[in-house]
Amino acid sequence: MSSQPQVYVTRPDVDISGLELLRKSCNVTTWSQALPVPRDELLRQIKGKDALYCALTDKIDAAVLDAAGEQLKCIATISVGYEHIDVDECHKRGIRVGYTPDVLTDATAELTLALLLATNRRLFEANKEVYNGGWKSWAPMWMCGHGLKNSRVGFFGFGRIGQEIAARIVPFKPAKITYTTRTARPEEAAKVNAEHVSFDEMLCSSDFIVVSCALTPNTKEIFNAAAFEKMKTNCIFINTARGGVVDQMALCEALQAKRILAAGLDVTTPEPLPLDDPLLKLDNVVVLPHIGSADIETRKEMSRITARNILAALQGCEMEAEVK
Ligand code: DGY
Repeated sequence: MSSQPQVYVTRPDVDISGLELLRKSCNVTTWSQALPVPRDELLRQIKGKDALYCALTDKIDAAVLDAAGEQLKCIATISVGYEHIDVDECHKRGIRVGYTPDVLTDATAELTLALLLATNRRLFEANKEVYNGGWKSWAPMWMCGHGLKNSRVGFFGFGRIGQEIAARIVPFKPAKITYTTRTARPEEAAKVNAEHVSFDEMLCSSDFIVVSCALTPNTKEIFNAAAFEKMKTNCIFINTARGGVVDQMALCEALQAKRILAAGLDVTTPEPLPLDDPLLKLDNVVVLPHIGSADIETRKEMSRITARNILAALQGCEMEAEVK
């Protein structure tokens, strides 16, 4: 048995640069397939490991920690979100948790803007018409959408990613940007001239709603039927945060009934969305397969940060990004 620390990596397809960093001083085992590691395999493989390199597709709970054994020192996820990890349970056992904030902020903000523009300007709907013969001629009111100019954009959550999305929206000349958070963030808000408003005011007055919060017990399905009922009928709902903040059935019904105009979703429940999901039958929805941070350089750096988090934890040093 090697004296090097043992690390299990749940995704063989993370960027090699992270794996190479680990291999310099650790004995690294990886799951062999590009799909998430099955639960029973994870429970088997984690046994005796000193660290786990995981992703948001892996549920890390007490059973996984039990299966690992007492030598487990660190769980590091290649994501900014860590709702898939039972952090309290880790901390109770002295297991440190690493994640990858900041590095993916710009990539996620860029993707959110792309999704917003694809939804409000109906890019996918229009593109289909090019291929299915629906494009007969230029027509004055055909495939028109609602621009950001003079609109009111409401943010739910205004952390690093929300702020960067807002900064990218400013050049499109919205009439007003608002944000809804538990605590006002006047300094950050001033940079984009955003106003702090209540959840209800944001729901009732926004032309665009952009979700950029973490999934927590407080935000779980906060966008429910009552919330969609309060939105303007021209409201466009954009979510690149987590599918779990939305009651998806209620969203689907609101879209079907034209209670709201459209939705752009990079995150859903479940992921992947089954091919027969009713959302996929609607023209006024753009669904992407959770690619917010899928920028090559970003994903490479996420891989390296995850590795460096593990190495730091194994050496008892400060981690680059630790969930406290
Ligand atoms: C995250 O990091 O949490 C994103 O959702 C995926 O990169």
